[in-house]
Amino acid sequence: MTAPISRQVCAACGRVFSETDPRLHCECGGLLELRHNHSGPTGAALRALFDARRGAAHGPFTSGVWRYREMVLPTAADDEVLTYPEGNTPLMRRPTVAAWAGGTDLLLKHEGHNPTGSFKDRGMTVGVTHARRVGATAVACASTGNTGASLGAYAALAGLPAFAFVPKGHVALGKLMQLVAYGVRTLLVNGDFDACQELAHASGDQLGVYLLNSINPFRLEGQKTIVLELLQQLDWEPPDWIVVPAGNLGNTASFGKALAEARDWGLITKLPRIAAVQAEGAAPFAMSYREGFARPHRVEPRTVATAIRIGNPASYERAVRAIRETDGVVTTVTDDQMLEAKAVIDASGAGCEPASAASVAATRRLIQEGIIGAGERVVAVLTGHLLKDPESVTRYHQDTEPPPPGANRPIEIEPRLADVERVLAAEHNVRP
Ligand code: F0G
Repeated sequence: MTAPISRQVCAACGRVFSETDPRLHCECGGLLELRHNHSGPTGAALRALFDARRGAAHGPFTSGVWRYREMVLPTAADDEVLTYPEGNTPLMRRPTVAAWAGGTDLLLKHEGHNPTGSFKDRGMTVGVTHARRVGATAVACASTGNTGASLGAYAALAGLPAFAFVPKGHVALGKLMQLVAYGVRTLLVNGDFDACQELAHASGDQLGVYLLNSINPFRLEGQKTIVLELLQQLDWEPPDWIVVPAGNLGNTASFGKALAEARDWGLITKLPRIAAVQAEGAAPFAMSYREGFARPHRVEPRTVATAIRIGNPASYERAVRAIRETDGVVTTVTDDQMLEAKAVIDASGAGCEPASAASVAATRRLIQEGIIGAGERVVAVLTGHLLKDPESVTRYHQDTEPPPPGANRPIEIEPRLADVERVLAAEHNVRP
């Protein structure tokens, strides 16, 4: 009998499950992860294969996720793949952002350019594709907004009913609107994200809905392609650092897996270091890091960045491994630092939601602390789009006293040219 191409393995005890086993936990409580047996090309030949698929006009390879299908879900047939397509997000230079961060060689991987405006689409295309393969009749997630928005869009593609548990009062407006518009049955839970997550897990176990939270290993396979795509955009020359905002730790875990596999499959020889960033008021993973990962922590989360307002992250163990394997670090930034970074990113024309700006704020902090060295190349991941959280923009630019750095207040005038002239002269020294 030949070994299956893909199987699930418990990350804690090593027990093996079939690829189509729908459970999300091992009996020991550990989370599952996918392992792919690969007998095809590696190294330069695999790089060439992925490169040849760039710019495909039809089929799954138009997607910046399915282009790497051997490393994501090799067993999915073309007609099973549910894709927008997604991915193919830009890797951008913004000199004003790099200068603010401390003058390093900084690139921004903008995941807000995905179809629903966040990186979640990369995991969801794989998760919902797999949900259909295992015959799911309904899909669900707990979410701070982006996962639910993405779930809704892909469930609509699949023709499956979707449910989302979201913390009432702590979901940014743009995301809540997406949930409603895409037709997600939206359950506003009187509790925080961690309560939503417990409810979602119980519903998955007891009510038969297929759970698409980031504990779902198929979602993490899709999210690995953030890393694979940025490596490809750099012609497979790894940066020194990849800096990523961290909440439920799905991305941190999948980045570690992507890098280890990219090395094992010969795509790269040197591993970038991962810097995972939490908001200071929601930093259980950073607390564990400071104690050498002696134990997971649980906190009462507080931050304006609702996307990462999470006190009890699900992918803790897998993320610890990612940090250890890449000689990574975990750091924190204050809400003020994050919002100032966001104002700089927004004003550069790139724009992002508050949690995303944590990556740039942390880059600045790590440079100031000498952890990121002068001249090192950094890729900071912007996880979500500016329009996700319009209220945070209004609050920063119009409603905060005294005006914070870079505040850009709209100016009210009478419909008179003299008023325009006065404003131009005062603001920009523009004179006729
Ligand atoms: N950035 C954004 C914009 C997010 O939406 C999230 C997570 C993160 C960062 C953190 O990523 O959880 O993989 O560590 N959002 C989840 C959601 C929780 O429900 O949309 P993580």
